[in-house]
Amino acid sequence: MLRNLCDCGRTLFARYDLPRAARTLTRQALAARPATMWRYDEVLPPGERVSLGEGMTPLVACPRLAASLGLSRLLVKDEGLNPAGSFKARGLSAAVTCARALGATTLAIPTAGNAGGALAAYAARAGLRAVIVMPADTPQANVLECRAAGADVRKLDGLISDCGRYVAENAPREGWFDVSTTKEPYRVEGKKTMGYELWEQMDGALPDVIIYPAGGGVGLIGMVKAFDEMQAMGWIGPERPRMVAVQADGCAPLLAAWQAGRDTVEMFPNAHTLASGLRVPKPFADVEILTAIRRSGGTVVAATDDEMFAAGRELASAEGIFAAPEGAATVVAVRKLAAMRFIKPADRTVLFNTGTGYKYLEVWQRALES
Ligand SMILES: Cc1ncc(COP(=O)(O)O)c(C=O)c1O
Repeated sequence: MLRNLCDCGRTLFARYDLPRAARTLTRQALAARPATMWRYDEVLPPGERVSLGEGMTPLVACPRLAASLGLSRLLVKDEGLNPAGSFKARGLSAAVTCARALGATTLAIPTAGNAGGALAAYAARAGLRAVIVMPADTPQANVLECRAAGADVRKLDGLISDCGRYVAENAPREGWFDVSTTKEPYRVEGKKTMGYELWEQMDGALPDVIIYPAGGGVGLIGMVKAFDEMQAMGWIGPERPRMVAVQADGCAPLLAAWQAGRDTVEMFPNAHTLASGLRVPKPFADVEILTAIRRSGGTVVAATDDEMFAAGRELASAEGIFAAPEGAATVVAVRKLAAMRFIKPADRTVLFNTGTGYKYLEVWQRALES
């Protein structure tokens, strides 16, 4: 049955028979499977896969950047290499797979940009209609990729929260299935595969610290869910990476809640940042995100836009990775946390570059010319 939220009004999560999954989901079996996120078949929802080859992105060692920070083991998980250029491909591949299997015909999404681009691509691939609702100042690449894929693109003067309201109000009447962040169960399932991949790519170990640019927080919640599943399957023990959420200085609702010791976020006033994916003034799954960070021993930090572009140049010039500003924010965070000794020199630290810089040419141009 097509479902959005749990009866309690919160995010609905998929559950699996993990002891059964563990019987066939082994490292040996994985070695022979295709290099997409669907290799973790046993712990993903059923349905004929709507795939463009998402997942199994490179985990790139960054020794030059590490040395400049006084660290020895720094890696970037480069999600910019996914279809449609961002990690949103994973969540939307899973969500579109399930929505089609359950009979949806038109999928609607409020988006900061990249999730809309990914939905447009996967809906086209699945032969479904997509309605993409985005702020009017969303990066041009996102608008164009949606239009090219034949999606119905609607631009609103406002933030992603206004787009969310528009979708929620219109979906019942229009017969759309709402695939908003953490308001349907399967985007988390796609995103959690980042956690499984880390374990595989690190030879059956997990990093000490994961730094993730959080807007709606799907990837962070997803990876923590993956680690719990991995423990239930006997792959890992109780130890966990410390989860760090990075936000933009101009839109930091999680940081405000974290600093106040609250489990819920308040609407962040006057949200602004060029890292459009981080312009989420009130993430829906606030309790889940903040609890996951706290339980892992992690923290929340923020970066200014100027810091992000300076760090993005550093990442590109030191390691050849041209990042989205959201991804560059993780470099700002690792510097701050290394200086504070939250990250120790020998900690294995993974930064998530969640999207490619090529999708942000206007803002990169402005940053490089200023
Ligand atoms: C490149 C990029 N990074 C990070 C985010 C934030 O992702 P999430 O909402 O899953 O926290 C987004 C969301 O649009 C994004 O496009």
